[in-house]
Amino acid sequence: MAPIFSPLLLFLSFLCFFTLGAMPFTVIMSDSGVPSDLVDGPQNGFSMNKDGARTDAREQEAVYDIMRATGNDWATEIPDVCRGRWHGIECKPDKDNVYHVVSLSFGALSDDTAFPTCDPTRSHISPSITKLPYLRTLFFYRCLTYNPQPIPSFLGHLGPTLQTLVLRENGHVGPIPIELGNLTRLSVLDLHKNNLNGSIPVSLGRITGLRSLDLSGNTLTGSIPNFTFPILSILDLNQNLLMGSIPSSIGACHALIKMDLGHNRLAGPLPDSVGGLKSLMLMDLSYNRLKGPLPMWIRSLISLQTLILKGNQMGPTPIPSDLFDGMKGLMTLILSNMNLHGPLPASLGRLPSLRVLHLDGNNFNGSIPASFRELKNVSELRLNDNVLMGPIPFGREMVWRMRRKLRLYNNSGLCYKSNSGLEDNLDSSFNSGFGTCEYIHIFTLREDRVSLSYTMNNLIWYRIHHSRNSNLRPLTSK
Ligand SMILES: *[C@@H]1O[C@H](CO)[C@@H](O)[C@H](O)[C@H]1NC(C)=O
Ligand SMILES: *[C@@H]1O[C@H](CO)[C@@H](O)[C@H](O)[C@H]1NC(C)=O
Ligand SMILES: *[C@@H]1O[C@H](CO)[C@@H](O)[C@H](O)[C@H]1NC(C)=O
Ligand SMILES: *[C@@H]1O[C@H](CO)[C@@H](O)[C@H](O)[C@H]1NC(C)=O
Ligand SMILES: *[C@@H]1O[C@H](CO)[C@@H](O)[C@H](O)[C@H]1NC(C)=O
Ligand SMILES: *[C@@H]1O[C@H](CO)[C@@H](O)[C@H](O)[C@H]1NC(C)=O
Repeated sequence: MAPIFSPLLLFLSFLCFFTLGAMPFTVIMSDSGVPSDLVDGPQNGFSMNKDGARTDAREQEAVYDIMRATGNDWATEIPDVCRGRWHGIECKPDKDNVYHVVSLSFGALSDDTAFPTCDPTRSHISPSITKLPYLRTLFFYRCLTYNPQPIPSFLGHLGPTLQTLVLRENGHVGPIPIELGNLTRLSVLDLHKNNLNGSIPVSLGRITGLRSLDLSGNTLTGSIPNFTFPILSILDLNQNLLMGSIPSSIGACHALIKMDLGHNRLAGPLPDSVGGLKSLMLMDLSYNRLKGPLPMWIRSLISLQTLILKGNQMGPTPIPSDLFDGMKGLMTLILSNMNLHGPLPASLGRLPSLRVLHLDGNNFNGSIPASFRELKNVSELRLNDNVLMGPIPFGREMVWRMRRKLRLYNNSGLCYKSNSGLEDNLDSSFNSGFGTCEYIHIFTLREDRVSLSYTMNNLIWYRIHHSRNSNLRPLTSK
């Protein structure tokens, strides 16, 4: 049985991160705190009726209605739905041994997950769903896709037991009904990839126990309401048309682990309150209209592993030299196309966990810091489309390890030292246009300042050592 359910478990772990417990197959969230007169038995994926137990008669009729509305008329032939043993329904007995429906799921999640599928041409969600007072989980995946319709506002009348509402890629159009704010016991609300428009209802702020809110992949407009969800760990509003600034109230969502607001039209500076999110592991704010400079509080995001700010014109501004100091867990840093200027901070080379570093499409100048040699675990490094110059500091093995994932093209004068072996390793299509750094001579400029010179692109470059800025400069501009 396990192979049948594992894709669902995987999928839901993905949906809900680790808000779902270690229960074997079930989409039901933890019961703690929810008043219920149901007897909690082990969940095993089937509705295991003891002999003599019966499904509540009104709920049985409601299930027939719901199944008919999705084109699953076969279910009406089943004399006792909680004994029907189809994947996608779960029931639990109360103390009188009457079974109640606690979970309904629809949609072909994967080839081997056999939830009932929906008739693509005529499916809808039956209002009889509100006759299931014990329902904790309602799950529709790609069910109404070919028969687009609004999210029914009657879902707001579902009992206060509802914990998980998933209407994922389900073809819904129109606004998010404000009535969903009545579902104050919800833990998971997932409306990913529908065609929802209008603004995010302020009423959702009433669902104070929300752990995962995914409204990504819609065309929602307006600004993000001043929500404060004390135990929210996942906030995904990616790919909408949200405007305005990021509300500073987001800093009061102290449990946030993932915050994805990418691909919207959010403007203004990042609110300082975000710096207090000590659990945040992923922050994606890419492709918005956020303004710089890069805030120093980024450093205080002590759990951060992934930071994606690309596509926000935050410049012209530099990366402060100590901005990422001490961020030991940072694995992915994506700052492409942000109009960042000035030198590459040497401290970036000292981020021990870094695996992916994209700094392409900016105006970084000067040379690549020698510390970048220490990026032993980086498998992807993009420095292309900047105005970098001087010798490429990487060793042969590092270039070999990254191969085409090392991008250095379109800079103003990068070169490799002859006999470094790089000439054999730099892939010609991705890293073309470099010559060897032709070492000319060492000379003394005033007292103890010594410069090395290279020729690149027919210019002579020099570097002053022992000065605060040891970047290469073109000799001809002096
Ligand atoms: C549900 O919410 C709406 C609007 O938010 C409200 O007017 C209505 O009274 C609520 N209904 C119930 C049953 O709580
Ligand atoms: C939402 O989309 C529907 C069509 O699906 C349209 O009639 C309605 O005007 C839109 N509403 C907003 C607020 O854009
Ligand atoms: C959020 O709160 C701020 C100040 O606290 C206020 O200016 C703003 O209008 C509020 N935004 C919304 C959408 O309620
Ligand atoms: C770098 O990668 C190696 C091998 O994958 C791993 O053992 C090591 O722990 C990594 N270092 C850091 C700081 O992540
Ligand atoms: C880099 O650009 C800044 C302006 O953004 C300039 O002040 C600085 O001199 C430049 N540095 C080098 C080494 O070219
Ligand atoms: C080279 O990079 C600069 C940004 O530094 C960009 O503006 C320019 O379009 C790039 N050139 C090409 C040919 O891609």
